Amino acid sequence: MHHKETIHLHFILFNKLFLVPFQLFDQLRQDRSNELAKIKPILGDITEPELGISQNDQKILKQNVSVVFHSAATVKFDEALKLSVTINMLGTKRLVALCHEMTQLEALIHVSTAYCNCDREEVREIIYSPPYDPQKIIETMEWMDDSLVDTLTPSLIGNRPNTYTFTKALAEDMLQNESGNLPVAIVRPSIVISSVNEPVAGWVDNYNGPTGIIAAAGKGFFRTMLCHENKVADLVPVDIVINLMIVAAWKTANKYKNNNGSQGITVYNCCTGQRNPISWKQFVNYSFESMRLNPLSHITWYPDGQCRSNPVTNALCVFFLHRLPAHVLDFFSLLTGKKPFMVRIQNKLDKAAKCLEYFSTQEWRFLDENVRELNASLSVEDRRVFSFDVTEIDWPKYIANYVLGIRTFIFKEQASSIPQARKRLYKMLWIHRLSKLLMILLMWRLLMLRSRVARNSWHLFIDLVLRLHRLIPFMQ
Ligand SMILES: *[C@@H]1O[C@H](CO)[C@@H](O)[C@H](O)[C@H]1NC(C)=O
Ligand SMILES: *[C@@H]1O[C@H](CO)[C@@H](O)[C@H](O)[C@H]1NC(C)=O
Ligand SMILES: *[C@@H]1O[C@H](CO)[C@@H](O)[C@H](O)[C@H]1NC(C)=O
Ligand SMILES: *[C@@H]1O[C@H](CO)[C@@H](O)[C@H](O)[C@H]1NC(C)=O
Ligand SMILES: *[C@@H]1O[C@H](CO)[C@@H](O)[C@H](O)[C@H]1NC(C)=O
Repeated sequence: MHHKETIHLHFILFNKLFLVPFQLFDQLRQDRSNELAKIKPILGDITEPELGISQNDQKILKQNVSVVFHSAATVKFDEALKLSVTINMLGTKRLVALCHEMTQLEALIHVSTAYCNCDREEVREIIYSPPYDPQKIIETMEWMDDSLVDTLTPSLIGNRPNTYTFTKALAEDMLQNESGNLPVAIVRPSIVISSVNEPVAGWVDNYNGPTGIIAAAGKGFFRTMLCHENKVADLVPVDIVINLMIVAAWKTANKYKNNNGSQGITVYNCCTGQRNPISWKQFVNYSFESMRLNPLSHITWYPDGQCRSNPVTNALCVFFLHRLPAHVLDFFSLLTGKKPFMVRIQNKLDKAAKCLEYFSTQEWRFLDENVRELNASLSVEDRRVFSFDVTEIDWPKYIANYVLGIRTFIFKEQASSIPQARKRLYKMLWIHRLSKLLMILLMWRLLMLRSRVARNSWHLFIDLVLRLHRLIPFMQ
């Protein structure tokens, strides 16, 4: 991209404190050690007026920034509405105000979510009118006290499943309203998980989305979930989203220059469901395959489980496969003087699963014409360097790296511990099989017992009837 040289400074809004993760940039540190020195961190707080950025830092941004990537948001699905509005909407509003004063601005890329319009089945690359005027919602949050907001939240968010999708939808509309003639584009990823290639395959650093569930399944204590296994799991690798964001910035800046101003906001649905779909069933299958190939250390049980589409069956399985064992384990922890933790973890997982259910039992059509058009407009070289072509994802390989990434980057387990972990997995497999067998025997025994009791009662009953029968003539 020839345009690249004219970009002085990128301003990237990150969540919380951004610590440059060590392993993530090892390669860069090795190859081009001075690149990282170009990063100039600026302290801020998105919940504060003027983003909590000092006057001095603001001056630097206003004078010299040409591209802004806005990815600061609370992605907690069930965040309190007030905080969600403050971060996702008011934060965006404050950022746009700052952007209006940036004299060099060539592109503002706002990261949204494909699910902000999850109330419709087909989602085009346009900004849909939200149910409320964003400004009114912001104002309402200002005077209303927390408990009243919480009471009103369900009716406010309406047919959206959580505050996250609600505030992100309103933020898009607000952005359109506030950005005026600024060069703006919106990138809407679906469910973002580990990297596919860069800077390393399988990099992931949080438990968001399905990652926490997969991690728990790998440990052996998550075994059932409400999920329609033949529906599409719209997952997208984080580096594909980043590449698309970079290219979208380039495109936005070019269009802005060629048109002498903005021609409205372009939206990019960054998803896989249309071009390279994978079902939940395949996702779960590949995940378990990988967990058994490269198991985590110290698993509590053999990793196994499945999607269940019937809520009643699933609730029963949750009780027997998650809750009951958790209570038993915690009971033994108490007995042996250790701190019980399993019930607490299961409570958390339960919440995570509930948040995910809405997405794992439905399917959407995220149309991506703009993404394909953008892909087509790239040179061969740029398409290689900034690849966001989801048809190139090889799912089995990608998911194997994802699961290994959870092991490496979240649990911080070395590859050298795999042989030991495999031994334990093998042991657990036998315990798993043995306990299944024991369970069947126990059931069998119970059934026998019950039928013997039944048989005995039946005999007793017949006996009684016969005796009564004999008594009848005497009674008459
Ligand atoms: C903006 O960049 C120019 C050129 O690199 C530099 O001289 C100037 O000091 C910068 N402005 C601020 C406020 O840092
Ligand atoms: C934004 O919306 C408000 C109403 O909430 C309206 O008064 C204002 O004119 C709008 N601004 C733009 C630039 O459309
Ligand atoms: C943009 O503005 C320049 C100078 O004002 C003019 O020469 C050019 O024709 C304009 N381009 C378009 C597409 O309007
Ligand atoms: C699960 O995935 C493996 C490859 O990883 C494949 O051989 C197997 O057929 C798959 N099973 C199902 C039920 O999809
Ligand atoms: C991107 O462009 C390349 C080259 O034209 C093409 O082979 C590929 O299928 C495109 N991908 C998508 C998702 O449109």
